[in-house]
Formats: sequence, C-alpha cells, structure tokens
Amino acid sequence: MEAKEPVPRLPLKMVRGYPLMQYFAENYAQVEKFQARTDDLLISTYAKSGTTWISEVVEMLYFDGDTEKCGRDTIINRVPFIDLAVPGHETGVELAARTPSPRVLKTHLPVQLVPQSLWKKSCKIIYVARNPKDVAVSFYKFHLISRIHPDPGTWPEFLENFMAGNVSYGSWYSHVKDWWEKAQTYPNLLYMFYEDMLEDPRREIRKIAKFIGKDLSIELLEKTVHHTSFEQMKTNPKTNYDSVLPIIVDNNIAPFMRKGIVGDWKNNFTVAQNEKFDREFKRLMSGTTLCFRTYI
Ligand code: A3P
Repeated sequence: MEAKEPVPRLPLKMVRGYPLMQYFAENYAQVEKFQARTDDLLISTYAKSGTTWISEVVEMLYFDGDTEKCGRDTIINRVPFIDLAVPGHETGVELAARTPSPRVLKTHLPVQLVPQSLWKKSCKIIYVARNPKDVAVSFYKFHLISRIHPDPGTWPEFLENFMAGNVSYGSWYSHVKDWWEKAQTYPNLLYMFYEDMLEDPRREIRKIAKFIGKDLSIELLEKTVHHTSFEQMKTNPKTNYDSVLPIIVDNNIAPFMRKGIVGDWKNNFTVAQNEKFDREFKRLMSGTTLCFRTYI
C-alpha cells in the first residue's frame, strides 16, 4: 500500500450502542450489507487477541504449507478485514469482493454487528479470545502506532476506559461473553484462546484443521508451527505489517509484532491497577463459564 499523510485521530462513534472507530462507524452501512459466500471462513476476535496469528495458520492449512502462496501479498490484503475503512482507500468489504474463494476474512465486531449474510450462509467462524490484561496492554501500545484509533491518553487513562468499555469495539467483557454465548447455539463456531495456542500450538492447530475439514499430515503440522511462530512472523514482511499503510499501523514508531507472550501485563500494571482490574473482572464476568489465564 502507498504511503499516506497522517489522518486526524477522531473520537469513537456509536453504532447501535457499540463504540467503533469513527472511520469504521461511518462505513458501517456498507459492512452491514456485506455479501458472504458459503465457503467464507471468518476469524473474529476482540482486537489484539491473535487475529493475525490464526489468519496465517489458516492460510498455511488452505495452501498445504506452501509459504510462497502464503507470501503472495501482505496479510492485510490476503485476509480482508471487513470492518476496515480508512479515508481515501479501498475498504475491507471492497477488498473482500475482489478476493477469490475460499476467502479468509477478519473482523473485530461485537457479535451483534456481524453482517447477517454470514449467519444466513452458515459460514464457519473461528473466535479467538485472549486474557484481558494482556489485551489491554497490547491494545494501548497499538493505539500509539495506529492513528485510526482515538488518542489513548496515558496508560492509566486508557486502562480505565478499557474497563469501562469506552474503547474501539466496546467492552472486552461483553465481546468475549456474547461470542461465547453464540458459540453455544451456532455449531459452525470454534472458540479458541490465545494462551492455549502459545502453550501448545500443535494441539490447537489440530483443532483448527479438524474444524475446517483439512487433513493434517505431520509434515504440514510442523511446517505450520514453524512458519507461524512469533519469531518467523515478526521477521516475515508479509505478516509483520511493515508494509501496510502507516495510518493503520506505523511500524516506525513501534513494531506491530511486539512481544507475543502471556503475562506482559505484569510489566505494565501497578499493584493498585491490578487489584481494581481483578475486582472489575469478577463483577463483569460473574455468571459465565469462560475462564482466562493470565499466565501459563
Ligand atoms: P502483543 O502486543 O502482546 O505482542 P492481533 O493480530 O489480533 O492484532 O493481535 C496482535 C497480538 O498478537 C500482538 O500481541 C502480537 O505480538 C501477537 N502475535 C502475533 N503473531 C503472533 C505469534 N505468531 N505468536 C504469538 N503472538 C503473536
């Protein structure tokens, strides 16, 4: 993608009660009309939960471990981000329309805002959830390098907004719970966890292969594990976001592929912030069977 002048950081805008980046909110009418195809696979996450990682895993499985085919373009062009809209550029929906089937698509939308066509066509969906402490840290750092988000303020300010759901895509707590609830009634949804992937990528990649109906040889499994390791993806220009529009991600400020670990929150939360966060987590997550691991 070509370079572009910086865009102004705009405040969030509500779409049906959910705060979205203003650029995305203004394009939501197009997203809502998105036309799914029966063989689409949607990767859905709250931001910073491992979307890019799982996308590359699925690409490797789709292309039988052919790294040249996976490297045909940057991940942002190979896996259309259907919510995406930045001034003066092709939207995610437009990119999806010219992407050949079978498409791998990406979204961060709350389940309530997912285009109806994806449900009507019974498309397969992989949802990836990550513990909220690491998400909050990763999301804050991402705001610093991505001008399509509002100004995040200081870390303490951002953390308060995160707990209150006053950030892009709204409440993390509602997002993971609502998608979890959907997974109980929509059979074509695989609900996964970032921490499980880090703990045992082989086990999790097997789950993905089974879900998408792919025969998985040991060779393909090992190739996929290797190619999608943090170290490989960080140095791979087709996955590390080095060549995407700087208004989406400015890698000159800090890398998109940052740490890729569980527990970086410990380097960022104060004791008081952690105690408050734990109290809020207990309150907002009461009544759900979902469990998150903040260390492995
Ligand atoms: P950190 O900022 O904590 O490092 P998303 O793709 O949803 O935006 O998520 C980005 C997060 O996933 C970043 O987390 C990034 O480093 C991490 N990530 C990306 N690829 C990864 C991989 N192969 N292994 C582990 N973590 C990965």
